[in-house]
Amino acid sequence: MLLIALGRGPIAQGRARAYIAGMYAFDIAAGSKSELYRELTTALDSLTADEPDPIANMANAAALLWEFLPDLNWAGFYRNLGGELVLGPFQGKVACIRIPFGKGVCGTAAAERETQLVEDVNAFSGHIACDSASRSELVVPIVHQGELIGVLDLDSPSLARFDHGDAAGCEALVALLAPRLVA
Ligand code: SME
Repeated sequence: MLLIALGRGPIAQGRARAYIAGMYAFDIAAGSKSELYRELTTALDSLTADEPDPIANMANAAALLWEFLPDLNWAGFYRNLGGELVLGPFQGKVACIRIPFGKGVCGTAAAERETQLVEDVNAFSGHIACDSASRSELVVPIVHQGELIGVLDLDSPSLARFDHGDAAGCEALVALLAPRLVA
């Protein structure tokens, strides 16, 4: 069940947009991975529906994923700026700022416009090690109206942390977010 709480008392799901100046707190207790991603997508919908600024929406998305997806050491965005990936809002350690298309896991996802599910980053030729603790990675391209907006990147210190359920969940989440990540 997902509750969006404002200040002292929980309020009904989906009403968060009425409290733009307030404090949000999410209590997500999902019984399965698919339920977890459904609830995260609902929460992100509430957080971003009325906000036109792409950076603000990426920042809240990164914070929400960081808080509720277990076993991550990095969660965030790279934006497509002029045909190069540039670091966007994220949670985790400082990261490489610019990644050319085709380089690393992120650049591969951008160039191929395909989700990259990497069980062992050391086995991925060209992986860019921003944090030596990373062992597995999931990168989902963000495409809106045929344009590549950027990528969502999740890293974990555990081998094979991500599976096809995570990929499908993140792709659904990115599909909702994509039009809200465009200026
Ligand atoms: N490992 C990524 C670089 C970005 S960081 O993980 C934040 C890659 O190979 O593209």
